[in-house]
Amino acid sequence: WKRLEEMDLRGKRVLTRVDINVPVSDGRVSDATRIERIVPTVNAILEAGGTPILLAHFGRPKGRPDPALSLGVVLPALERALGRGVFFVEAPIGDGAREEIASIRAKDGADAPVILLENVRFYPGETANEDGFCDALAALGDVYCNDAFSAAHRAHASTEGLARRLPACAGRLMEAELSALEAALGKPARPVAAVVGGAKVSTKLDLLSNLVTRVDHLIIGGGMANTFLHAQGVAIGTSLAEKDLADTARRILDEAERAGCTIHLPVDLVVAREFRAEAPHEIVARDECPPDAMILDAGPESVRAIVELLGRCKTLVWNGPLGAFEIPPFDTATNGAAREAAVLTAAGQLVSVAGGGDTVAALNQAGAADGFSYVSTAGGAFLEWMEGKTLPGVAALGG
Ligand code: 3PG
Repeated sequence: WKRLEEMDLRGKRVLTRVDINVPVSDGRVSDATRIERIVPTVNAILEAGGTPILLAHFGRPKGRPDPALSLGVVLPALERALGRGVFFVEAPIGDGAREEIASIRAKDGADAPVILLENVRFYPGETANEDGFCDALAALGDVYCNDAFSAAHRAHASTEGLARRLPACAGRLMEAELSALEAALGKPARPVAAVVGGAKVSTKLDLLSNLVTRVDHLIIGGGMANTFLHAQGVAIGTSLAEKDLADTARRILDEAERAGCTIHLPVDLVVAREFRAEAPHEIVARDECPPDAMILDAGPESVRAIVELLGRCKTLVWNGPLGAFEIPPFDTATNGAAREAAVLTAAGQLVSVAGGGDTVAALNQAGAADGFSYVSTAGGAFLEWMEGKTLPGVAALGG
């Protein structure tokens, strides 16, 4: 793929796919991280003399305008992050939008405009990656820049089709994401450890099967670990688990053994009778979970073992919490392991990359996110990449 710097952007309309699909509550953006992370790309386009025309989706409208999912809601946060005004074009994609863009550019004179188009998913052709819609989008620009790694698992018009119609390049954020992921699983410094946590094995089967062939150590935590413990014949009381996946868990353990990947499950457990903050809890050995108790976190011995293991590794990929991190004190294992990863990273001993779903929230809560080498903005795309899948949005840029 080409970098932004390799393109001639002077005087060009640069259709820039960004992911500003951010959480909103009470009409306000509650976490602007994704918006802040596109600023370098927008500024680089402006500095190179181009007009950034931002294309983005928001939520999952049903292929028709839905006022509740207008990108207008993110406009103030976008303007704040960029430190400048943004023109919001609500005219339909086609002649209407093309003329409005032309008049904004003609009027704006010396101060190059930044333009945001309305939610691209208001059109059925977007998710269908339909030819006519791709052509209509392409007619709005001269160059295509994809800066939305976190939407690159979608083969949509704005993430895939456009790359085949206009001279295309990766934006700065896309480039940063791809280099971080390459460092973590492409050609990583070994040994490589992966932390995979979260509630369910069923949502991460492909991911686990791929990781056992790629990493040297796989640390499994959260509710998923219960399913593995159960598969090994360990009593897990009333713990959340997918008992019907015991055979699958055993198959993954066998695959790991064949591939030379060591699986690390908790060696001690934090158990409680109730799932609520500060519920009375105790620490037990892994085969001593009382029949009326549930496992809510890995215990201190497990954390010590993870800390010791990370000290021997050079690369870490992290996805998902190690315990019920939303409810203290069951965030203790996640916090302990994440903080150690940050310390080792700061000391230059570890390359640490995290992403996907709850991961960023868990690392933020641990105060460790800033200490990681790289925290991806992606949810589903990060998981698909960890599963070893080709992401259509990246493939369309040329690999
Ligand atoms: C995300 O929030 O992970 C991306 O913006 C992709 O959104 P989607 O799952 O609706 O395609």
